[in-house]
Amino acid sequence: MVKPIVKTLVNGYGVIGKRVADAILRQPDMKLVGVADIVADWRVKLAAARGLPIYASIADKVTDMERKGLRVSGILEDLLKRGEVDVVIDCTPAKIGARNRELYERHGVKAVFQGGEKHEVAGVSFVAQRNYSEALGRQFVRVVSCNTTAICRVVGAAHEKIGVKKARVVIFRRAVDVWESSRAGIMNTVVPELQVPSHHGPDARTVIRDLDIVTMAAKGSHNLYHLHMAMIETRSKVSVEDIVRVIEEEPRVIFVSGEDGVEGLNSVFELSRDLGRPRGDLYEIPIWRDGISVSSNGTEIYMMWATPNESNVVPENVDAIRALTELEREARMSISKTDECLGVIKRIY
Ligand SMILES: NC(=O)c1ccc[n+]([C@@H]2O[C@H](COP(=O)([O-])OP(=O)(O)OC[C@H]3O[C@@H](n4cnc5c(N)ncnc54)[C@H](O)[C@@H]3O)[C@@H](O)[C@H]2O)c1
Repeated sequence: MVKPIVKTLVNGYGVIGKRVADAILRQPDMKLVGVADIVADWRVKLAAARGLPIYASIADKVTDMERKGLRVSGILEDLLKRGEVDVVIDCTPAKIGARNRELYERHGVKAVFQGGEKHEVAGVSFVAQRNYSEALGRQFVRVVSCNTTAICRVVGAAHEKIGVKKARVVIFRRAVDVWESSRAGIMNTVVPELQVPSHHGPDARTVIRDLDIVTMAAKGSHNLYHLHMAMIETRSKVSVEDIVRVIEEEPRVIFVSGEDGVEGLNSVFELSRDLGRPRGDLYEIPIWRDGISVSSNGTEIYMMWATPNESNVVPENVDAIRALTELEREARMSISKTDECLGVIKRIY
């Protein structure tokens, strides 16, 4: 049986939206009908210049967008009304997605929301390798945040393969995204989040319900990538080799090495640019191989990884589209299809 091509639209063409749009363009079983936004800034104008049809997410914004020289192909709601979109990937800023939900509901269109929305907006929070089947055939799903995705990949793998008694993760966050560093951010300081646990731990439990996890977070003055430091108590004795094997078998996580000169987030960033991906994006979670250790009694693992905040959720969005539309019923199949199309790797060299 020939599978249909799923018609998608990205609503909100920012940090996440533009990357998801490009990832969809690489999938043979998906079509990108266009992108929608409410502004006509350089990002949206560049998308138009690349030939992507641009829609106004809100009717009121058409005049302003056209006045700024953008050719607007129409209004998002009209497109949905005419049944021209099967799945909207809502990449609007936090809390806007919750407002858009009613629009998608009204037109019977499926939607993928992002981590800035609450779990309740979709009812299913998603990390492909953990709970793909929960999203099968649903109308809505929420791809969790970059931090929660990283935790679910790494700690989730240890939980599935070894059994985690409790996990404690400290998150050192970037202050602000690169594109808006001229507008906001902090300088020469580290700002602790005084609410403990930070929201990331409870968020990871929306995906892995039986995981005992507490997270603490602080904001640094850099603008790219988060750093996670984990202490993971296991149900049985483990060795460094055991956890290395688990990571080697897990999709979308890779090893980097301090010994090879990967000394900090900056070197991970440079390395990801050397991989030649669009925008220097890293879809995988790079874990420091030589930073892994185990307590002397063998029941606690210590490890550190970088979380490429702009890009690690991109493959999850692609898989979420396949799950909602049941293009693939098995996580394994969707993950390998996505990873092949995006060039996701298991070994850097
Ligand atoms: N930036 C990150 O590192 C990151 C990582 C993972 C998840 N997320 C989540 O992804 C979502 C999007 O974040 P982002 O960083 O890409 O935001 P962004 O600010 O870079 O982009 C948002 C885009 O949406 C547009 N927009 C604003 N209001 C709109 C509306 N009503 N309708 C349509 N478009 C509208 C903006 O013009 C902008 O182009 C959020 O839920 C965020 O929490 C962000």
